[in-house]
Amino acid sequence: MNAKPKIYIPRPNFPQVIERLQTHFDVTHNQEDQRVTQEHFLAQASKADGLLTTGSDLIDLSLLNACPRLKICANMAVGFNNFDLTSMTQAGVLATNTPDVLTQTTADFGFALLMACSRRLVESEHYLRDQQWKQWRFDLLAGQDVHGATLGIIGMGRIGQAVAKRASKGFDMNVLYHNRSQLAPSVESECGATWVELAYLLAHADHVMLVLPYSPEAHHMIGARELAMMKPGAHLINIARGGLIDENALVNALESGHLGGFALDVFEGEPTINPRLLTQKRVVLTPHIASSTIATRLKMSNLAADNLIEFFAHHRALTPLNPQVLASVKAPKHV
Ligand code: GLV
Repeated sequence: MNAKPKIYIPRPNFPQVIERLQTHFDVTHNQEDQRVTQEHFLAQASKADGLLTTGSDLIDLSLLNACPRLKICANMAVGFNNFDLTSMTQAGVLATNTPDVLTQTTADFGFALLMACSRRLVESEHYLRDQQWKQWRFDLLAGQDVHGATLGIIGMGRIGQAVAKRASKGFDMNVLYHNRSQLAPSVESECGATWVELAYLLAHADHVMLVLPYSPEAHHMIGARELAMMKPGAHLINIARGGLIDENALVNALESGHLGGFALDVFEGEPTINPRLLTQKRVVLTPHIASSTIATRLKMSNLAADNLIEFFAHHRALTPLNPQVLASVKAPKHV
């Protein structure tokens, strides 16, 4: 009888999903709330046939070269900028992600951040807890309206569209979007959204939300220049990837009084946070939890597990990113 394929899971995950995987695989996993060292990660990955990764486990050429057994990396995330997809494809390593199952939950959270920073929710809560509240005041912690305002969405994939529907249908917002390709007229009308150039969006939106995938070309796409183009008092929300924004320029734009506030769920060096972000008042900072409801995270985990199971049982996957790898039955070659 053939030995079971070896799967390594470097982060805590649902016990029931690990149990399910254990019926198919020889599973090694880290259930500690402490990120494993890179050396440990490499040592374990080099013994594995498959990995169940998250969006911050880097799979690059040097890892692939150190892991000649590796055949599949199943990301428990829709974003996959942690994968060097070209090298994975060349190495014959299948990559999968978890699209769709997190769309609505992530859009809900984008909206929560938009509401929270526009209405200064976190700052207000701290003010009250710090016992600074003396009396009702006409301008106490006054924020900016969300309903009826203009929302600019950068990146109009599944999550961007779900945000747009909430904004146009629920909050009567004027929704502008910028995306590499314009959506079909029927989808635009369903979303109540209008395609515009990026410069126009930045100049006209009261609130701007980033919902686009990260790529090296998009690194710091929001820097000092773009922030200066934004409307005075506008808010910026990022539920995509931290590297899209130059965080120092962002803090400068807030400190100068040009920006009204910002809300970030993702950070360039996460989980390490630029200390300048931590001292700002008109901001909301959350630890990359936009998809974090138990129901949705369980769906993501099960989808990643299904990709591993399908791959080893039937040489197929539910949500492959480089399906061309499946066409080849050759053993992986990593160099
Ligand atoms: C989370 O950031 C994801 O890509 O799923």
